[in-house]
Amino acid sequence: METLCAYLLIFAAISGALASDPDLLQDVCVADFASGTKLNGYACKDAANISASDFFFDGLAKEGVPNNLMGSVVTAANVQKISGLNTLGVSLSRVDIAPGGLNPPHTHPRATEIAFVLAGVLDVGFITASNVLVSKTIKKGEVFVFPRGLVHFQKNNGDEPAAILGAFNSQLPGTQSIAATLFTATPEVPDNVMTKAFQIGTKEVEKIKSKLAPKKA
Ligand code: GLV
Ligand code: MN
Repeated sequence: METLCAYLLIFAAISGALASDPDLLQDVCVADFASGTKLNGYACKDAANISASDFFFDGLAKEGVPNNLMGSVVTAANVQKISGLNTLGVSLSRVDIAPGGLNPPHTHPRATEIAFVLAGVLDVGFITASNVLVSKTIKKGEVFVFPRGLVHFQKNNGDEPAAILGAFNSQLPGTQSIAATLFTATPEVPDNVMTKAFQIGTKEVEKIKSKLAPKKA
């Protein structure tokens, strides 16, 4: 019995350590967004119809404009922008953060992120499942890692614009921004959940909801 438990623990540890996007079974599987077939990922386009444009994206070349409440903007380069990334298990994002701006606490449920500072200085950190904050000030040319699933942030406390390039071991890491997830979900998370969780009153909940509500164009 003890041996069985030990094997099960080892198996659980190994499968946990290997968890990432599934491995590919062919050279390429360019996403066919038009396909009605539902898969874990996207159906493949006919290989006769693929071209370099399926593997190209110039959206990270220019600075994003962080003119919003948080003073930060994320530009993703994932499978939704680059169809050729389908099944390849990698993607990028660029985050531009104005002086005083914040890329607010968020998690990526499907990927670890390794971030390279393109410009400026940032105070960054993640919080472990044991509630320990691991944080550091990082500058241009330096790298910091945000482990899969852990809540993390980047704050520009400097007086110059800052930017990072984040690389992910998933074609679609997913992002859940903690405050926005809780306060702007549709349908709404009930107020009595929020008042209890945050130990605040309904008025405060409503105030936060209205501040974080996505702005109508
Ligand atoms: C930065 O943390 C990002 O997710 O792009
Ligand atoms: Mn991130």
